[in-house]
Amino acid sequence: MYTNEMLESMKKVEANREANAALEPRRMTAEEKDALLRAYHPDYKEGEEFVHLLVGPNKGDKVPKELGALLQGKSRVNPAEIDLSSPDYDVDVLIIGGGGAGASAAIEADNAGAKVMVVTKLRMGDANTMMAEGGIQAADKPNDSPAIHYLDAFGGGHFAAKPELLRTLVTEAPEAIQWLNNLGVEFDKAPDGTMITTHGGGTSRKRMHAAKDYSGAEIMRTLRDEVLNRGIPVVDFTAAIEILKDEKGCAAGAVLLNMETKEILIARAKTVVIATGGAGRLHYQGFPTSNHYGATADGLVLAYRAGAKLLYADTLQYHPTGAAFPEQIFGALVTEKVRSLGAKLINADGECFMHPLETRDVSAASIIRECSDRGKGVKTGDGYGVWLDTPMIEMKGGEGTIEKRIPAMLRMFAKYDIDIRKQPILVYPTLHYQNGGIDITADCESGVENLFVAGEAVGGIHGRNRLMGNSLLDVVVFGRNAGRNAALRSKDVTVGALSLEHVNTFEKACEEAGIHSDVVSPKLLPDYRRK
Ligand code: FUM
Repeated sequence: MYTNEMLESMKKVEANREANAALEPRRMTAEEKDALLRAYHPDYKEGEEFVHLLVGPNKGDKVPKELGALLQGKSRVNPAEIDLSSPDYDVDVLIIGGGGAGASAAIEADNAGAKVMVVTKLRMGDANTMMAEGGIQAADKPNDSPAIHYLDAFGGGHFAAKPELLRTLVTEAPEAIQWLNNLGVEFDKAPDGTMITTHGGGTSRKRMHAAKDYSGAEIMRTLRDEVLNRGIPVVDFTAAIEILKDEKGCAAGAVLLNMETKEILIARAKTVVIATGGAGRLHYQGFPTSNHYGATADGLVLAYRAGAKLLYADTLQYHPTGAAFPEQIFGALVTEKVRSLGAKLINADGECFMHPLETRDVSAASIIRECSDRGKGVKTGDGYGVWLDTPMIEMKGGEGTIEKRIPAMLRMFAKYDIDIRKQPILVYPTLHYQNGGIDITADCESGVENLFVAGEAVGGIHGRNRLMGNSLLDVVVFGRNAGRNAALRSKDVTVGALSLEHVNTFEKACEEAGIHSDVVSPKLLPDYRRK
C-alpha cells in the first residue's frame, strides 16, 4: 500500500526516533510565528480565495468566496407563496440544530419552564460535537485558574476574542464539567476519582478533560439522552430555511423544510436559538474536512439575511493533523491528543521540524511550509504529508498507552493495516472549525432581537484562532446560556404578525448591487456528485 518513497522516508523516521524523542524542540518567537502565518496560513491569502460582501450588515468585509456566494445567494422560498397564517408549530423557544449547543440549549430552556422544540436537518447528534475527539478544557486543578485559561486562549486567538465572551467561557468552564459529569459523561479518571487532564496546543496548564478520544461522542450521547428522556420534541430531517420575523422586526420562528417530503412547514416561536454549527463541508480553498456531513454554514446565512452581523467570518481553523494517508480517510481528524501524549511531527528526511504543541494555526502553517517551499513533505496520492511519529507515545507513556488513551485512532488506522503503535502516520491540515460566525452579546443575543446563537455558529469567542478543547466547552457554556436566556426572554414576548419581508428586502439589495446569483442558500448538504 505504501509507495517505495514512503517506505524509504519511514526508515529515516525510525532511524531517528530515539534522538527525536529525546529532543526538546524550541517554541517559535512571536515574530517567527507572525511571518510564518502570513506566508503559509490559508486565512492570510490575498487572492481569489476571498470576496468582499456587497450587501448586508457586513458590506465591504472579506469572507471566503464559497461563503460569500451563499450569504448573497437566493432564498429557497418565494415569500409571496408562503402562507404564514396558520403555523404548524407554536412554541416559546425554537432551537435550530441538534448538536451539542442545541441540546444544551434545549435542556436549559426546558429547566426554565419554556415550551421548547428542536429542529434538525439530520438527526439529533449528527453534528461536529459528535466528531470531536481530544477533549474539553476547564481550569479546575489547584495549579490553574480561569484567569490563566483566559490568557492562554486570548493569546492563542491573537488577542481578538471578545473579552466578555471569553470571560464567560473560562469562568463557567469548571461548572460545565461538573454539569456534564453529573449528567453521566464518562470522563477519564484516576483511581482516586480525580479527572485526568492533559495539555493541548497553546495551553500553559494541563486542563484537557477527555473521554479517551471519543470525548465529543460521549458528551453528545449524554446530552442527546437527556433531551430525549425529558420528552423535549425533536423534529428531525427538517431544516430551517429562513428566519421568520414579526412586524416589529423581532425573530419569531422559522420556515422549515422537510428534507424527505420537501413539505414547507411554519414554526412560530417567541424566541429562536441558532445552533447550526460549522462550515467544513464548504471545503474552503479545496481543503478536505474533519467535519460532519451537514456542516454547511446554514445558520450564518439565515441570520445574515435576517439582519444579524457576522464577526471574523474570514477566519477558519485548519487542524494541523488531518489524515493524509490512506485516501479512504483523507482529511479525517487525527486528534491533537496524539501530540499531547508525546508524538512529534517529523518531515520526509526524518527531522523533527517544530514543537508539537504550538497553537493550531502556527502548526498548520508550519506543516504547509514543510510540504511546499521546504520540499520536505512525503508524497501521497492526494498531495503531501508529514509524519506524526505515534510510536513515540509508548516510548514515553509505556506499553498500552495508545489503546488506553486513544483507542479511536488505533482503530481508525488498523482498518487499513496500519498499527500506530509501531508505525508513524501521515498527516496534513484539514478544514476543522469556523472561528468566525454570528456576532453576539454576552447574553448570546444576535443583532436581531429575540434571535439567540450558540456553538460554532458564534463568532468572536475565540478570536482568530481557537485552542483545542475550547469548542466542546463553548457549545456547553453558550448552549446552556442561550437556552436559559431565550426561555427567560420568551416570558415577556408577544409575537406579532409573521413576516418574510426581510427576505424581499435582502433580495432587492442584491439586485441593486448587481448580484444575479443562481446559488440557492442555505446549502443544507454538500454536493459531491461529479459535474
Ligand atoms: O484535536 C482534537 O481532538 C480536536 C479538538 C478540538 O477541536 O477542540
